Amino acid sequence: MNTDLRRANSQNFPVELTISSGTAEDVDQILKLQKYWLQKTRACKQGFLFGCPFSQKQLLSIVRKAEISVAWVNQNFAGFFLLDSLAENVLTQDYKERLQKYRHHFTGTVCPRAQIAVHPKYLGMGISKRLTQSSTATFKKSYDAVFSIVSKQNNNMSKHLHNGWEIIDEDDEMYYVKLDLNKKNT
Ligand SMILES: CC(C)(COP(=O)(O)OP(=O)(O)OC[C@H]1O[C@@H](n2cnc3c(N)ncnc32)[C@H](O)[C@@H]1OP(=O)(O)O)[C@@H](O)C(=O)NCCC(=O)NCCS
Repeated sequence: MNTDLRRANSQNFPVELTISSGTAEDVDQILKLQKYWLQKTRACKQGFLFGCPFSQKQLLSIVRKAEISVAWVNQNFAGFFLLDSLAENVLTQDYKERLQKYRHHFTGTVCPRAQIAVHPKYLGMGISKRLTQSSTATFKKSYDAVFSIVSKQNNNMSKHLHNGWEIIDEDDEMYYVKLDLNKKNT
């Protein structure tokens, strides 16, 4: 468990941010937040999620593998960062195939997909950075790096770069990205 005290920029109240490993009890809130961002259009300035949603069963498998971190602000659910190596999800299967093309950018073990989302109430508080840092420390026990794909219509690429992701390739629609879990500054 990783606790940090931050002060929200817009509201002058103390904020306790806690990052911990996701549990089965968190799955319903993760599903709700995932649904919220999946329903957003590509015009949403805060970003969006795309593709086939993770099911409850798939999320429980990810929890069992300890491949999900969750954030809490003053004990309210505030976001998650997950890895999916199981590839039971159709989109993950697609990422896994796509990763083959980029395998030369990686050494060691690579997880083919990550997903991050912050609750709309807690955007802009640096939670994604803390989630990424904390998840990196945990997930590097299992992988050397993570591959993922970001839509160019999603406004969050600059934040991902700030959080430690690197762009390894791009086409008209997508950035193909890597998170090196052994790099010092992530
Ligand atoms: C993507 C998402 C998780 C980012 O979370 P956030 O709350 O908006 O961003 P944060 O406040 O955590 O910002 C992360 C870091 O980027 C920095 N940042 C903010 N705007 C930035 C910009 N334009 N350029 C570079 N860095 C920027 C922040 O300062 C912060 O760093 P710090 O903690 O060192 O100050 C969140 O917007 C989200 O859930 N969006 C909807 C779902 C989604 O799009 N997921 C990603 C799919 S690819």
